[in-house]
Amino acid sequence: MTLPNRAKLVDVGPRDGLQNEKQAVPAEVKIGLVHRLQEAGLKEIEVTSFVSPKWVPQMADNAEVMHGIERRAGVRYSVLTPNMKGFEAAIAAPREEWPDEIVVFGAASEAFSQKNINCSIAESIERFRPVAEAAREKGIFVRGAMSCTVGCPYEGEIAPERVGMLAKLMKGIGVQHVGVADTIGVGTPVKVRRALEATLAHYAVDEVSGHYHDTYGQALSNTLASLEMGIWQFDTSVGGLGGCPFAKGATGNVATEDVVYMLQGMGIETGIDLDLLIDAGVYINQALGREPNSRVSKAIRTKRAN
Ligand code: HMG
Ligand code: MG
Repeated sequence: MTLPNRAKLVDVGPRDGLQNEKQAVPAEVKIGLVHRLQEAGLKEIEVTSFVSPKWVPQMADNAEVMHGIERRAGVRYSVLTPNMKGFEAAIAAPREEWPDEIVVFGAASEAFSQKNINCSIAESIERFRPVAEAAREKGIFVRGAMSCTVGCPYEGEIAPERVGMLAKLMKGIGVQHVGVADTIGVGTPVKVRRALEATLAHYAVDEVSGHYHDTYGQALSNTLASLEMGIWQFDTSVGGLGGCPFAKGATGNVATEDVVYMLQGMGIETGIDLDLLIDAGVYINQALGREPNSRVSKAIRTKRAN
């Protein structure tokens, strides 16, 4: 078995991590989080989403956050844009404040597509098509998130064929990279592997990432199973923040700290400074009045204190 010798982590904490928080997090705190993540060595950060403020009030300050971040060379800044309205809002700012990458987000489950973005899978693809076209024309990279690739809170288990169908549709409209998401964290290694295999029928291994929520504590195992297939890109969330407001019962993404610790222990290069990352997780959790939801963070902070 050959494992990748490096991995890229996309910290989705400022977006996936905060979108589900009931308390309003000030834009300056979100900006402070992005700054701490890039200081820790993250090479891609999912900053915010250009969605309806009625649906996700926490992301209403999207333009303010994009305006406030001080960019660092070599870091990619991505945002979610579900339709042309969102894409146009994301590029309404001066060129230097545009995202480097936009994310269209669909689902392998019809019911979840309706709950999350208020349209069917087929309709969502028609909404994404002009977004992908306009973004590529402007030199902005296009990623696709594929939700509920293992299980759906409304439909139950999802067959890998449906994941393959969605990946094919994404490919057909020019989406350059897809993330295989276990939105509600019900996946176990064999099931996640099947969802990845279905995706790999349409995308190369370098164009696929894993996005695993940790509701059932399986995300690290699923990450390892993915690495064994050659997948080397993962979305993770500092302090284990996260969850989708439209996915009942879903909790946070796998903690970036936990994944970095595992990868470091396996000799897989991430370029991330674990101590600075732990500080970033403490920073945002203090703002939320909580402890980071990361075993590694807890263990290392306990060790630091003694
Ligand atoms: P809709 O109601 O079907 O849209 O919503 P519409 O085109 O009919 O417009 C209705 C209203 O929304 C109008 O305003 C539009 O202007 C406005 P009104 O006239 O009523 O005042 N509107 C917008 N406003 C701001 N930005 C926009 C936008 N589009 C329309 N882009 C829509 C469709 C997608 C907008 C809505 O359903 C929505 O915002 N949903 C939120 C979805 C979301 O953010 N979900 C969480 C992120 S996805 C996720 O977490 C999963 C992921 O992590 C992977 C995983 O774990 O599975 C990525
Ligand atoms: Mg998610």
